Amino acid sequence: MRYSLSLIAPALALTLILPTATSLGFGPYEQHPYEQQHWFETRQVKSQDPAPVKPASSLVIDTFRNPLHNDLGFWHGTGENLTLQHEPGSMRLFPTDPDQNFHTQFDVHDCFSLLPWKDQFLHVVFEGNEEFTVSLNEHNAQCNPAQSPFPGVPDSVQASRYIMRTRSWDPDHDDDDWDESLKHGKQKLPLKHRFRNDTRGGGRQRPARSKRSELFIPLSHFRLDHKRVVSVSFTGFYTREPITLYRVEIVPDVPSPAAWNGYFNIPEKLPTGQLILRCSRPNSFAFGIDDGQPQYAQEVMRILDEEDVRVTFFAVATGLRDRSTNFTRFYGEMLKKGHQVALHSNTHPKMEALPTLHEINDEIVQSIRTLEDELGVRCRVTILFLQGQTLTISSTARYFRPPFGTVGVRLRQQLAQYIDNPYIVNWSVDVEDWLWGDTNTPERQLDAFYRDVARGGNLAVMHYLNPITAGYLRHFIRHVKSLGLNIMRVDQCLEDPNSPPL
Ligand SMILES: *[C@@H]1O[C@H](CO)[C@@H](O)[C@H](O)[C@H]1NC(C)=O
Ligand SMILES: *[C@@H]1O[C@H](CO)[C@@H](O)[C@H](O)[C@H]1NC(C)=O
Ligand SMILES: *[C@@H]1O[C@H](CO)[C@@H](O)[C@H](O)[C@H]1NC(C)=O
Ligand SMILES: *[C@@H]1O[C@H](CO)[C@@H](O)[C@H](O)[C@H]1NC(C)=O
Ligand SMILES: [Zn+2]
Repeated sequence: MRYSLSLIAPALALTLILPTATSLGFGPYEQHPYEQQHWFETRQVKSQDPAPVKPASSLVIDTFRNPLHNDLGFWHGTGENLTLQHEPGSMRLFPTDPDQNFHTQFDVHDCFSLLPWKDQFLHVVFEGNEEFTVSLNEHNAQCNPAQSPFPGVPDSVQASRYIMRTRSWDPDHDDDDWDESLKHGKQKLPLKHRFRNDTRGGGRQRPARSKRSELFIPLSHFRLDHKRVVSVSFTGFYTREPITLYRVEIVPDVPSPAAWNGYFNIPEKLPTGQLILRCSRPNSFAFGIDDGQPQYAQEVMRILDEEDVRVTFFAVATGLRDRSTNFTRFYGEMLKKGHQVALHSNTHPKMEALPTLHEINDEIVQSIRTLEDELGVRCRVTILFLQGQTLTISSTARYFRPPFGTVGVRLRQQLAQYIDNPYIVNWSVDVEDWLWGDTNTPERQLDAFYRDVARGGNLAVMHYLNPITAGYLRHFIRHVKSLGLNIMRVDQCLEDPNSPPL
């Protein structure tokens, strides 16, 4: 059935911009950054019964007929201030930052399983900017959006590697028909069924009027637990060109390579390391302490000594090389005391925002070299063959914390080229020192810490950029101890066989 144009006309060009916390009348404290995100709330906007699950047939996730929910009846939208423009049949994204995300969700209040489709392909029809990351996000272990972390861990692929470039549209079908049917949400067979193979080569070659591109990504390229998947998301934008999404679905197969599709072949999965948000060891808790001010370093050391706990420091390489900071001696002493020192880039940029792979690589290589040269910390696993025996010298710096927590697939892939199976360490407890450190309510850092720990977070991020935050470290540690949790280095809390014994 077709909708009449006059009915949909008023809905055209409806622009959705996420209201900021302030415009909702909340102060910044009443709204935790995650709570500003629509998807933290109960965003299950069910308007219809979800399609019955028929394994091995396709699963239409989103055709963007509705501004607020997808074809499964669940929320789609952005948690960040990504500007969106919805028209029936499409969603246009105007990205400005690689941290922005557009999510189309499954059931966040349940463990939504994609196992019936695990051998199939994510198919995305879009237009515009190709420079982005496609992620499939795992839900947390409880499948509960109120638990930290939410969402859980993503695995990601680089959109541009999976694009099928079609030379023209099916000559028997009119482009307008295709456009209209998409706009009106009419169910369409996946594109492959609309093409006949090479017969078209001799037929009328019509230049594509539309610049639509298609992605086909094997679900197996997303290394995560397919039994609990929370969303498909589009993120990691490093150019500002808009992207228009038309269709997100899972299909059983991919068109075979032919002239009309540029002999499309699925690329191989590139390693992306492991993204870490939580400790895995039962009853463990870890502090990942990032950059700081040299003048508070000794205070941090004193607290850690007195509380007798070991942590992981993520050190910025330029700071280490700068003799005036005394960081080489400080981190050297921390290593001797049994703490872990790991990578946090060379100059602390949002790495996914860097325009070239060369710049991303340079950040990685300089930071690895600096840790090796200044502190003797090895970043690669070295395998030696001595008198017929294999000797593995473990690396302590397979651990990388992305500046600002900005993670996209280019960063993940490049890191995995230099470091064998890197751990990319985000967090599930945010002290929010970046938010409250320099305000007249610094104690909100304590509230933030207690809140995230209460939600089940066990891997913290903090800095020692101001004396109050540095002083709070003792409160954080005592709070964790009072809960009966054991504080240890990140590698130990991840049960890394190469980590030192507890
Ligand atoms: C939101 O977007 C504006 C403009 O693009 C940017 O300046 C600002 O930093 C963004 N805010 C957040 C919280 O990302
Ligand atoms: C079209 O594809 C089918 C199945 O792959 C094949 O059997 C058939 O020969 C193809 N037709 C032409 C004209 O290439
Ligand atoms: C530099 O760090 C070392 C090791 O922590 C410390 O003993 C020394 O006092 C520090 N020097 C300055 C000037 O802070
Ligand atoms: C990592 O942390 C940053 C900052 O909180 C957040 O924006 C980002 O979404 C996180 N990434 C993942 C994959 O959790
Ligand atoms: Zn940092």
